[in-house]
Amino acid sequence: MPTITQGDLYTATLEVVEHPPLGVPALDGGPREAVVRLAGQRSLVRILDGGDGRDLDLVLPGGYRHRHGRVRLTAHRLSEGVFAIKADERRIALLRLRDPALGMPAFDPERNHHPALRPTRPLRWRRGRVAGMVSPWEALRLGVQVALPIMAQGAVVRRRLGVRLAALIKADTRANRLLARLRDRHDGGPLLIRIPLRGWAVIPVKEADVRRVLHGAEFTPANKEKRGALGHFQPDSLLITRDPELRARRRTFNEEVLRPEPIAAEIRRKAAEEMATLPTDGVLTWSRFNEAHWRMARRIVLGDPARDDEAVTRLLNRLRADANWFYLRARKTDVRVAFQRRIERHLRRAEAGSLARVLAQTRADPAVHPEGQVPHWLFAYDSAAIATWRALALLAVHAGPHDPEHLRAAVLESLHRWPTTLAILRDTTAPTRWRGVTLPEGSVVAVITSFTDEVPFSDGPAGCPGEDLVLLTATEVLGAILRDREVGAIIRRSPLDHFGLRFAVRPRER
Ligand code: HEM
Repeated sequence: MPTITQGDLYTATLEVVEHPPLGVPALDGGPREAVVRLAGQRSLVRILDGGDGRDLDLVLPGGYRHRHGRVRLTAHRLSEGVFAIKADERRIALLRLRDPALGMPAFDPERNHHPALRPTRPLRWRRGRVAGMVSPWEALRLGVQVALPIMAQGAVVRRRLGVRLAALIKADTRANRLLARLRDRHDGGPLLIRIPLRGWAVIPVKEADVRRVLHGAEFTPANKEKRGALGHFQPDSLLITRDPELRARRRTFNEEVLRPEPIAAEIRRKAAEEMATLPTDGVLTWSRFNEAHWRMARRIVLGDPARDDEAVTRLLNRLRADANWFYLRARKTDVRVAFQRRIERHLRRAEAGSLARVLAQTRADPAVHPEGQVPHWLFAYDSAAIATWRALALLAVHAGPHDPEHLRAAVLESLHRWPTTLAILRDTTAPTRWRGVTLPEGSVVAVITSFTDEVPFSDGPAGCPGEDLVLLTATEVLGAILRDREVGAIIRRSPLDHFGLRFAVRPRER
């Protein structure tokens, strides 16, 4: 046994004596390899691979707040090279030192702490101490140039004035420029921001980090703000389901129902019929198009008899206007119940050729709440309308063939240039490590879609299950409009302002 010297590093074995409800993975399963630095008041035990593929740091003695309360870990020397690790007064593990070891990185308790334990002293907001942590000034700029335009446009239902202003000041270009600058300044990010009353926020600015967020199991789409917003009108929907097991079942259900193949011919017919109600000569405006698109969406989702049920759309939009304010607006339970009842009346008919029929034919246990998924489908068809309208602007400006391939490419291009989901939010369900720091569970991660390639439909386990349905519908809508009309765009502002986008149309000569 080497002589033990304070400050030296040792390899060691940590053997569990007792397992209190610490929730420390490394203490759960038998002896573990550890590296130890004994340093008087603040000794470090780094347990190699804390059970989840990551190393685990315990600081001894030290106070840690844990979800079961505050736990104080101390090391008590029993004999030469053997220490008892105590959690408060209970001996929970034995630590046997073996050899001096080399190569431990410098230990900084502010950066290294166990993922399952929160340090009593939170990470402090000091610029430069942690890579990626933005300064208060940078945080303010992110708030004004990135978050504010999203809020002003409306995260759930677009506001005419907000969208107009965003287009006027080119809010998306400005936001992207700032993010690019901060990415370079912070060495590729991610950007870590401390938000008062909310905790930590992360903005991934590298594709690899975006992929990690969209694919990683430790990031739930049922983020707090999203639950606050979507809870106004779709509290049982897949996107804000927190329980992983229930989420998986709802996901399967959505994927099964939203396959476009069984209703493809009906989508074509409904798109053609509704677009035929638009003028072939004169000016095409957003409001005319939007009304026609809603009639079509109601027919596709709820069946033909829902075509003229404008009340269901009105109720939905009223609730969505509240959703723009997240938790700040009170829930209008009466409006929501009226909305849901209306939907259920349509669903009961299970009209052939509609999603309502496919829903009725798809097996699901009651916990999945099939009817509770439908508000999202109606709501999301609104994004399809916006993306289609902007795609029409691209097609009007760039002449080209109007075959389905080309039309589909225009829709995808429209979504890449002007994503309809402005930010994809996730909450962390476990402490997560970002370039040397561990952020606590419950931190918010925001993928800014305009700054990221390839995510208009998101990706990973919560990627949009309606993508094929949307692309088919949008292609049919564009095909139907262009079949009968020559279309020229009257573009006064960026197509980002879809409200202001208009088209001059005249009958197509055959
Ligand atoms: C242009 C149209 C659309 C776009 C750009 C789009 C995009 C997206 C995005 C980005 C997400 C992920 C959101 C997040 O993680 O917060 C999502 C989720 C989802 N979308 Fe779409 N969507 C569109 C239309 C639709 C339509 C029409 C439907 C259904 C008829 C639909 C069904 C869903 C569902 C059920 C989810 C939740 C997936 C999950 O949580 O696993 N979407 N969509």
